[in-house]
Amino acid sequence: MCGIVGYIGVKPVKKILIDGLRELEYRGYDSAGIAVLQEGSFSLFKAVGKLIHLEEKAHDYESSGFAIGIGHTRWATHGKPTELNAHPHMGANSYVVHNGIIENYQELKAMLIHEGANFVSQTDTEVIVHLFEHYLKNTPTPFDAFKQTLAKLEGAYAILLITGSASDTIFFAKNGSPMIIGKNSDNETFFGSSDAALIGKCTEVIYLEDGQYGYASGEVIHLYNGESHDVTLRFTPLSGNKLSAQKEGFRFFMEKEIYEQSHVLADTLMGRLRDEQIHFEELESGLFEGINEIKLCACGTSYHAALTASYLFQRHAAIRTSVEIASEFRYREPYLTSDTLFIVISQSGETADTLESLKMAKRHGLKTMVICNVDNSSMVRLADASILTRAGIEKGVASTKAFATQVCVLWMLSLYLGEIRKTLEATEIRRQIGLLRTLPSTVTVDSNMHEQLRRLSKRYLHGHGFFFIGRDVFFPLALEGALKLKEISYLHAEGYPSGEMKHGPIALADPELFTIALLPQHKLYDKTKSNVEELSARDSTICSISPLDFDKADDHIRTKQLDDYMLEFFEMMVVLQLLSMEIAIRLGNDVDMPRNLAKSVTVE
Ligand code: G6P
Repeated sequence: MCGIVGYIGVKPVKKILIDGLRELEYRGYDSAGIAVLQEGSFSLFKAVGKLIHLEEKAHDYESSGFAIGIGHTRWATHGKPTELNAHPHMGANSYVVHNGIIENYQELKAMLIHEGANFVSQTDTEVIVHLFEHYLKNTPTPFDAFKQTLAKLEGAYAILLITGSASDTIFFAKNGSPMIIGKNSDNETFFGSSDAALIGKCTEVIYLEDGQYGYASGEVIHLYNGESHDVTLRFTPLSGNKLSAQKEGFRFFMEKEIYEQSHVLADTLMGRLRDEQIHFEELESGLFEGINEIKLCACGTSYHAALTASYLFQRHAAIRTSVEIASEFRYREPYLTSDTLFIVISQSGETADTLESLKMAKRHGLKTMVICNVDNSSMVRLADASILTRAGIEKGVASTKAFATQVCVLWMLSLYLGEIRKTLEATEIRRQIGLLRTLPSTVTVDSNMHEQLRRLSKRYLHGHGFFFIGRDVFFPLALEGALKLKEISYLHAEGYPSGEMKHGPIALADPELFTIALLPQHKLYDKTKSNVEELSARDSTICSISPLDFDKADDHIRTKQLDDYMLEFFEMMVVLQLLSMEIAIRLGNDVDMPRNLAKSVTVE
């Protein structure tokens, strides 16, 4: 989610680091920082907010001759977006930048504080540099200290570390977060968390694999794998196109973001699943005391996540739950009672209607919470409690991975509440935690499925409308499927509860009415099937999405046999996203920037 750069060479290091960070800034801009080591002395610059602030701070600094440097642009996960929490983090004589999450940082921090280390930030990252210096005291070489440090870290990381004890060397490691090393004919060495940062500077790169680590001293790179074995350096040529590098080979950011869902869901879950318990480090224990009702409030796709949650909260936590569209809630003069927890859901944290609804709830004295993707956003600053979804920056205007992570957080929250309210047996919580652990593999895109959807899309480019239908949580998913199609294909689509079609919409049924039917195996299959049969009997064109055969369908998209309806929900979500995207691509639309829409709607 953050961006990392590093450089060893004789060119002006500040410019190289900041140019690299500029290419990564779209990944996070809560803060940025660089640390340079030249002739044994460090220069450090950090600034909150966009890179331009860092450039202003470092304006008067220039290096000449050989230097090493590391830089970072941050997307906050642990700790607020302040200057103290900005990377690089420092020890007595060393600096580190890090992407990922160190899951056991609290126990390491406690141990290091006991040993006398002085922590200044709230981040998980700072433990890395103190741990390194702790080992350096009793270890023959800085590389040994670095290896001992890595051995203690649990979680995901890409790390660059520099130290006054080895002033021509950058130590590096990768486990779960990306890291690339680049070279050019001038024998300079570069590091980047994405090749976008290296394009134009390097001609060849090595994409590190998980478990690899090592150090680069001057022009020489030493690379090892988990067992301390020397790894042969295998460089591959680096392409020259920046935009395509950011899209990582995908045609659109939306496509990249659909494919990324597996990784970002792993981030969303990270550190939050215990064997029989959901753990939200960010929530205070008393938050739910005296709460008898939950009100969820949001706009657009986030509203569909809220609707999905309303089924889960009532089912798992037996708590009265209502859902509000923020633009309606604001002017409805709602009746609010102080035993209600008001939860807003927002990818950006800036949507005007949702933000105003949050302010209203606060004025009425309600406890408030936000489920959000952006840590320094207005909603996060305002709400009493916040849970970050960790989706990373979403560039496609049509939301995909942000929705996936919102539903994932809300599912976890429903279990968390179920435990507090003693409405779920421990065995059931354990079972569902087991399901959550399989989410990253559930949403991994199957290339055969994608190809089937691409071929199928040509049959759905016309007609007088689409109905996406489903029951239970598959009704909000139907709404979301219809919204995706509308947003990027400009075709008319509606989401509907499948049992409600007979009360009006079925009058539209004819071969030019396309019904996209969500038929999960584990939730109300027979009921939904009957509704779809009613439409089929009236000659609507049916595209069914189900793991089970359905002989009344014109087209059938077969999903996997999964253990639970929530897993089916996530797999069908991916199918709907890809289907909309393929239809929009065939229609020649700009999938990432559809007409008339904006990513963040800060007006009423
Ligand atoms: C806009 C976006 C949607 C998003 C909605 C709510 O309409 O185009 O994708 O769902 O705003 O945004 P939020 O940032 O509050 O989730």
